[in-house]
Amino acid sequence: MLTPERNRMVTQVGPGTPMGDYLRNYWIPIAGVSEFDDKQVKPVRLLGENLTLYKDLSGTFGMVDRHCPHRRADLSYGFVEEKGIRCNYHGWLFDENGDCIGQPYEDTANPKNPLREKCKVKSYPVKTLGGLIWVYMGPLPAPELPVYEPFTRKNCFVEIGISDIPCNWFQCQENSIDPVHFEWMHDNWSVRLRGEGEPYATKHLKLDFDEFDHGFVYKRVREGQPEGSTLWTVGRVFLWPMGFYLGGHFEWRVPVDDENTLSVTWFSYHVPKEQEPYVQERIPTWFSPITGPDGRWISSHIINQDIIAWVGQGVIADRTKENLGASDRGISMIRNRFFEELEAVKQGKDAKGVIRDPEVAKFVDLPNANTELYRDGLPREAFKKSPLLAGRLKRFPFLVGQPREVREEFCRAVGIDMDGNFLDEKVGEPAE
Ligand code: FES
Ligand SMILES: [Fe+2]
Repeated sequence: MLTPERNRMVTQVGPGTPMGDYLRNYWIPIAGVSEFDDKQVKPVRLLGENLTLYKDLSGTFGMVDRHCPHRRADLSYGFVEEKGIRCNYHGWLFDENGDCIGQPYEDTANPKNPLREKCKVKSYPVKTLGGLIWVYMGPLPAPELPVYEPFTRKNCFVEIGISDIPCNWFQCQENSIDPVHFEWMHDNWSVRLRGEGEPYATKHLKLDFDEFDHGFVYKRVREGQPEGSTLWTVGRVFLWPMGFYLGGHFEWRVPVDDENTLSVTWFSYHVPKEQEPYVQERIPTWFSPITGPDGRWISSHIINQDIIAWVGQGVIADRTKENLGASDRGISMIRNRFFEELEAVKQGKDAKGVIRDPEVAKFVDLPNANTELYRDGLPREAFKKSPLLAGRLKRFPFLVGQPREVREEFCRAVGIDMDGNFLDEKVGEPAE
């Protein structure tokens, strides 16, 4: 349970709020690079700020204020030039540093005009990594953008899924340290949704939680699971401060504002050994809906089920009314760490896990309970036997709405037909 004040502290993300200022110490994934294959400008709302993300004709990404400093027109309707974005109202031009580099009429009327100096627009550094666009909104100098191990993998098919979630980010992120919900929300509920009754999934018998530099891990023992299992010895990762990492994919709960979250998910699937070498030309990004035609939340896919829990807790979960139990020990741990961190950063300390050394940032390994499967790759025969890989051959289980062309590309990469059956010869090579 939290006091109303502490509940506000973890949920408010606007500029000048404790959590808002804290989260600004991190690089945040905000969009897919491939979104900009067919557009140049995108309006973005992040941490309570309205912004404009663009890619100029030279390929440089920039994140600037939504409003033009001239007379406040909406820059997300601007158009890009070789360098920078131009306001569609009177043509003022801004680069990725926020400098005003052109004011057409002012430049004509008074070439030596001093107006440009005053007309810097708010801007934030942008980087790309793993097919994602990352932005940093905090105090400069910006820390390094960590290159997590999965971003360095070869022979993987990667895709990015994005959803708009109409609730606060913190309740979404608490889900990243909640092992028991797998048994109920994903296992038992899915069985009921399919119209099947018994049996119940294996019970959780034991939980543990540990902290490390880049977050926390939760560990579990379920009925019938040997203690040597990596789900107990390694566990799953609450990636500080807004991520979740399960070895094969990341999920970030990106705070749009106090009442909205952008779910940004990144999935990597190592193709069977027989399909190597596989080089992906482009990482697709697609948008996943969360409501069905009947206006109810969609429950058919794993992360959609999670989303039902998040939005079900209310727009901003009222933690003054909750009753935490033994399954929530991880939740208490991460809340306490956030409160300590907010204090530490106020005193001038670096936020948890922030990396300043470029050498360190080049490769950041994370605990992974399924290294072989996700990182190293396995032969076809092992795919058929692996519960984690085999299901994915038939259908994308995480988010609803995977576009057909993404499924087709996935099938080509993995060497299967659209029904998930392995093809005899490597796809792409002419049959004899
Ligand atoms: S309002 Fe943008 S150039 Fe005038
Ligand atoms: Fe879940």
